[in-house]
Amino acid sequence: MDRLCKASRTAQIVVVSRHEDFGFDPSGTATGWEIRRIQQIRDLERVVRACPPMAGVIDLQSDYSDAEFAQLEQALQYLHITWVAITSDEMLAQERVRRLIRDYCVDYVRMPFSMPELLYTLKHAQGMASLHGTRPQETASRGTMIGECAAMRAMFRSLAKVAHNEAPVFISGESGTGKELAAQAIHDASSRRKGPFIAINCGAIPSHLVQSELFGYEKGAFTGANQRKIGWIEQAQGGTLFLDEIGDLPLESQVALLRFLQQGMITRLGGHQSIPLNLRIISATHVDLVAAQADGRFRSDLFHRLCVLTLTIPALRERGEDILQLANAVLAEHGHEAHRRIRGFSACATQAMMQYAWPGNVRELINRVRRAIVMTDNRKITAEDLQLHGGAELPRKTLDAIREEAEREAIRTVMASHGFHVVPAARELNVSRVTLYRLMHKHNIRVESQATAGE
Ligand SMILES: Nc1ncnc2c1ncn2[C@@H]1O[C@H](COP(=O)(O)OP(=O)(O)O)[C@@H](O)[C@H]1O
Ligand SMILES: [Mg+2]
Repeated sequence: MDRLCKASRTAQIVVVSRHEDFGFDPSGTATGWEIRRIQQIRDLERVVRACPPMAGVIDLQSDYSDAEFAQLEQALQYLHITWVAITSDEMLAQERVRRLIRDYCVDYVRMPFSMPELLYTLKHAQGMASLHGTRPQETASRGTMIGECAAMRAMFRSLAKVAHNEAPVFISGESGTGKELAAQAIHDASSRRKGPFIAINCGAIPSHLVQSELFGYEKGAFTGANQRKIGWIEQAQGGTLFLDEIGDLPLESQVALLRFLQQGMITRLGGHQSIPLNLRIISATHVDLVAAQADGRFRSDLFHRLCVLTLTIPALRERGEDILQLANAVLAEHGHEAHRRIRGFSACATQAMMQYAWPGNVRELINRVRRAIVMTDNRKITAEDLQLHGGAELPRKTLDAIREEAEREAIRTVMASHGFHVVPAARELNVSRVTLYRLMHKHNIRVESQATAGE
């Protein structure tokens, strides 16, 4: 999708519809738009993030199940796209359909509609969307990675830079921060994107098999080598080889890898022929390679070969409200696994997630939210569902200060949980939009801080 995005200069319109003939065929019209249809709501977020469209069409001509509808609503809450709905009088009789259109769409057309009518409405939506301006380069190279905070945006900028270089990249970051996802994003944004992306976990291969797995072998190279096997390195020819947990590579394999990096050639075990290779190496580990060198567990010469360019992925606890955005993304993707409809996260869950240290980072967050989705009996996921209890004791303050802070916190949290959209946030807080705007002004909470971040 990322590739598609960069290859095309035409504006993209994303259409969410299960129907092959959803009543919109722009071919033959001079729109200059590229239309991408998404059948499964769960794919919406991935497609939109990989390549942000100019505007979107939601097909509300026929009914969705409760689970699908909830999934759709959740996705719309934090995907900042200008939407237009196609619907019918029958569907408009449903309050939930009216609400969805009211809250998330700039306009809608009713069946039966004419093509000029829909095109006019879409042009209007495109015009509205263009007021947000264009997205910076960094969004194009983030792949499927979610993140709007300053640390992640700086990382995306570095990622775009290293992607356009040929030198080896070393990715550091705690376990579960998204190192593999970043490696994939580098590959997808690089000139080797058409080649293979081979990811191997050096720590997961038994040490006596590392050499044969990496370099391959010829028939008869050792007992049991009944036929030639192409190793991982050779399989990455023309593409990218991602060596995860490189710190776990046994010393003798480090020597062989170093030789390959110096010569650009490999020899299969039991073979005599040197095979020239053209590939890019990305490596990662959660162990401290500097300490490993000091202990003699990792070769310094290999370290310097691998770490020409480095990329550091921030820990989740340093990413502020990205935590909530990620949690919402997991809920949107897996919400249908719940036995009843879940309407987001409670204020206590939001607070707990913001305060928790997340030692297992994004991987842990995904696991906690998925478990909560399956286990909860609540309309909103609570801190208890996430198994996040406790929290810091409040210091002694005046009652007024505590009230002020609680008000600010509540508004900020609810706003964040609704992707900084004022309408649903005002509804949840049970205040009018005008009141909410006034309170936001008082507490210096700006809509731009999140809703248009990255634009
Ligand atoms: N920024 C992100 N946005 C969305 N998903 C992410 C992000 N970072 C990590 N993930 C997801 O978290 C999980 C762990 O990521 P992974 O790349 O395997 O981490 P690491 O290699 O650092 O241990 C994967 O399921 C990945 O898709
Ligand atoms: Mg990993």
